[in-house]
Amino acid sequence: MYLTRIAGTGSYLPSTLLTNLDLEKMVDTNNQWIVERTGIERRHIAAKHEATSDLAFQAATKAMEAAGITADQLDAILVGTVTPDQVMPNVACVLQARLGCRQIMAMDLSAACSGFLYGASIADQFIRTGMFKNVLVIGGETLSRVVNYEDRGTCILFGDGAGAMVLSRAKDGERGQIFSSHLGANGALGDLLTLAGGGSRLPFSQEVLDKKLHLVQMNGREVFKSAVRAMRDRAVEALETSKMTIDEVDWVIVHQANNRIIEAVADQLKVPMEKIPVNIRDTGNTSAASIPVLFDESVRQNKIKRGQNVLMVAFGGGLTSGSVLLKY
Ligand code: ACO
Repeated sequence: MYLTRIAGTGSYLPSTLLTNLDLEKMVDTNNQWIVERTGIERRHIAAKHEATSDLAFQAATKAMEAAGITADQLDAILVGTVTPDQVMPNVACVLQARLGCRQIMAMDLSAACSGFLYGASIADQFIRTGMFKNVLVIGGETLSRVVNYEDRGTCILFGDGAGAMVLSRAKDGERGQIFSSHLGANGALGDLLTLAGGGSRLPFSQEVLDKKLHLVQMNGREVFKSAVRAMRDRAVEALETSKMTIDEVDWVIVHQANNRIIEAVADQLKVPMEKIPVNIRDTGNTSAASIPVLFDESVRQNKIKRGQNVLMVAFGGGLTSGSVLLKY
């Protein structure tokens, strides 16, 4: 059995900003409400010519540079996204060609905001068994393309971005390892957060467009409650499996959905906020990109250092959830 470590990280946020003041001009809302209820002040929005694979490409090249890995050394690409460039070919295949990789496995994972942790867990299994040495795992989203900018309950939340990690087989003497990962889903509550139109049940039609069913719909209050419970449960499972206490964890990276959700998770896990990096003020909720973007920023700001223990927890539409506990 081999060990998996994070060899390098990278992230990319598009340059255009959508501020709360901009949103005040679009829907019946105000800066104070958004900041108090969510902690968000601005979000990055992809340019017209940018699709998810373009954001992912930028994040991926930075992660590969940080890892000292070239495209021909990659054995697989996994992309967590619910906003692919198109249904087919998938984002991972677009990247496989654009990065100049060998004809390696390349697939997208649809697990909403948990997509990156689902990908990291799958990559870990392939590396542990010895099948792969280097896997590029990405969370990338252009949620601005599927948000209803007439719905004040959702349009204030979401932003675009991409984060990437190269996960590699640890060589002798190298620090860092993934201890465990825990993935879950509660499909019975799937109706709380949907993007229904355009699939095989509700193919595109004028009615789908008129009813805006091709855009995100959410019961925010119920999602909130489930998010806190699921992230707490996945975190506890990770700690119990690795026989670690929360005090032995240096950093907890919580999916950036809402500042109040992050604080509630901290409260339930009894983690001081000093151990929880937060960037939601400047990014909003970037779904699958949220965790790898925040992880990369924390590494580059010299917060997360080699040898430290990090717990990542995510929650998203599906409803999906996941945790990964590791030594960086
Ligand atoms: N501006 C002003 N008022 C608003 C806004 C807004 N943007 N949005 C809602 N309101 C109003 C509502 O209409 C309601 O008014 P009423 O009392 O007259 O009916 C009032 O504010 C309270 O509404 P709630 O929905 O109860 O507000 P809440 O405090 O729950 O905050 C929010 C709403 C921010 C959406 C919150 O529920 C939330 O963050 N939920 C989790 C959402 C989430 O994380 N989703 C994604 C997770 S999964 C993933 O990342 C894909």
